[in-house]
Amino acid sequence: MFTANLLLSSLFLASSVAALSPLLDPWHARPHIPYVDEPDDSVSVFHVSTHQLISSYKETFYFDQLIDHNNPKLGTFKQRYWHNYEFYEPGGTIVLSTPGEVNAEHFSSYLTNSTINGMIAQATDGATIIIEHRFFGESNPYPDLSVESLRVHTIQQAIDDLEYFAKNVKLPMPGGDEVTPDKALWILIGGSYPGALVSYVMQNKPGLFFAGYSSSGVVQAIGHFWGYFEPIREWMPKNCSSDVEAVIKYIDETFDSGNATAIHDMKAIFGLEDIVHQDDFGAAMKLVLNYWQGGNINQESVGFYGFCDALEVDKGKSAPASGWGLDHALKAWGAYWKNSFYTSACGNATAEDCFGTHDPNSSSWNNTELSDSRSWKWMTCNEFGFFPVGASEGYPTIVSRHLTPEHSERGCQYDFPGAFTGLKKSSLLNALKVNVAYGGWNITTERLIFANGERDPWREATVAANGASFPKMDLQPHLLSDGFHCSDMLASEGSSKAVKAVQDAAVGYMAKWYADWKKKQSA
Ligand SMILES: *[C@@H]1O[C@H](CO)[C@@H](O)[C@H](O)[C@H]1NC(C)=O
Ligand SMILES: *[C@@H]1O[C@H](CO)[C@@H](O)[C@H](O)[C@H]1NC(C)=O
Ligand SMILES: *[C@@H]1O[C@H](CO)[C@@H](O)[C@H](O)[C@H]1NC(C)=O
Ligand SMILES: *[C@@H]1O[C@H](CO)[C@@H](O)[C@H](O)[C@H]1NC(C)=O
Ligand SMILES: *[C@@H]1O[C@H](CO)[C@@H](O)[C@H](O)[C@H]1NC(C)=O
Ligand SMILES: *[C@@H]1O[C@H](CO)[C@@H](O)[C@H](O)[C@H]1NC(C)=O
Ligand SMILES: *[C@@H]1O[C@H](CO)[C@@H](O)[C@H](O)[C@H]1NC(C)=O
Repeated sequence: MFTANLLLSSLFLASSVAALSPLLDPWHARPHIPYVDEPDDSVSVFHVSTHQLISSYKETFYFDQLIDHNNPKLGTFKQRYWHNYEFYEPGGTIVLSTPGEVNAEHFSSYLTNSTINGMIAQATDGATIIIEHRFFGESNPYPDLSVESLRVHTIQQAIDDLEYFAKNVKLPMPGGDEVTPDKALWILIGGSYPGALVSYVMQNKPGLFFAGYSSSGVVQAIGHFWGYFEPIREWMPKNCSSDVEAVIKYIDETFDSGNATAIHDMKAIFGLEDIVHQDDFGAAMKLVLNYWQGGNINQESVGFYGFCDALEVDKGKSAPASGWGLDHALKAWGAYWKNSFYTSACGNATAEDCFGTHDPNSSSWNNTELSDSRSWKWMTCNEFGFFPVGASEGYPTIVSRHLTPEHSERGCQYDFPGAFTGLKKSSLLNALKVNVAYGGWNITTERLIFANGERDPWREATVAANGASFPKMDLQPHLLSDGFHCSDMLASEGSSKAVKAVQDAAVGYMAKWYADWKKKQSA
């Protein structure tokens, strides 16, 4: 039911790029919440109890948001939002959510009960709102993404946006000018980066939101993020991980040998002999793993399993858990690249044009036109990190250890001239600052629900990370399913019993907290 292929379409839209385009680098293809079928434009929405015809899901509203919360004199920009009050009853909740690092206009299903947002609203007499995050879609403080404009593109400004919106919006519904957080209960929901934002807002603005739901919330910023590949390695078919590990080990040993002939021959197996630099080659080999994130409960990633089939199925037979071994895996992976993957990824560009990141003079850098992927890239360069790298020495790896943090850090420096010099170069330090400011894994806030999926590649940045020692409290439930990225936000993913249990528990907590509060009011 949902187009899990967003990531893949981003991946494959790119062709004929001058250097590694942000679209081609799926790291910067944004890890946001999944789309689901949007409600039909022509559908009339009726209020559940009054049966009156109310606004369409698609009507766009505009809020005058401060450009800079540290300097209100700079004025305002138009921030888009969408709203629905079919479940709202006076005294009910206001359920706010941003899809984050993406144009928000295709997320109106997050106003309805086909998502957790609407389910929670339905259980708490709530109205739903989707707000577009600053610097994405059409909610732009400035007409470009120059380094100067991006100065006001920070996590803190995004947090302050949500506060300013909640305190000042006049919602387009009966009584909508009487529901600010001093008068009504606000609930904040988000998945992925916006899931982290839920946690950050509740820590940074205590008492503003009554409750929060953080799905796959990447609360812990991590500079060098090889943990992204751990859930993939753990959950992919065993034969496929065995063979991928063997090929990557061979690639790394060949690079380490320094034997130029052997290195050339190894790259040529994949048709990538003209990639000059080892980290660019490592990034190219990693690309296919990004298919994993497109998976979901109802449809495991077709792209990812297609890749494993190409490696593991030979003359109609599939390999045992130990895989076919290096020789076959190299040949099969090489053919996979040459037969189809290369064209999908690079179109007719040369491999060096497609994957090279070492030319500071490439015309692809510093393109300051508005673009969601550049805007998200700024957030990773400036604060989050989450840069893809091979696993640390001593751990098994499905990504070349020659893919080092410099690969992404260099991209930051070339793409945003002057912004990332000195200490700002360090993704480790940038991430540390985020964690110190907003608590990372250590967050302790009441009525904040964390929901995670074991198969989510972002799992290691969430409170469900292996070995994360986070504080547990009665009023801060940690829910876990076998889901993928943000699975628990979608009613359709409730076809997994575990996902359904997470959703039922979350809705149950919200309904109880709401009922307890109402009881206290009337006492
Ligand atoms: C959504 O609400 C309708 C009633 O308005 C109900 O029939 C349906 O079961 C609800 N769906 C979910 C997933 O809760
Ligand atoms: C081997 O690979 C095939 C094809 O991807 C897969 O269907 C099967 O489950 C794998 N078997 C094992 C034991 O990993
Ligand atoms: C370098 O690699 C080539 C091709 O694999 C091989 O023939 C040659 O012996 C190697 N040279 C050394 C010094 O190992
Ligand atoms: C590469 O493909 C693009 C369209 O995808 C086309 O416009 C361009 O002419 C092609 N270039 C070459 C050299 O074939
Ligand atoms: C980039 O351009 C500058 C100025 O034209 C030149 O000095 C420099 O050598 C170029 N760098 C590379 C890596 O081509
Ligand atoms: C980056 O692009 C902006 C806008 O086009 C331009 O003003 C600026 O000079 C560029 N910076 C560099 C270092 O090329
Ligand atoms: C989280 O708590 C641990 C253990 O008390 C501490 O070592 C760590 O510095 C804390 N992290 C942050 C970001 O506050």
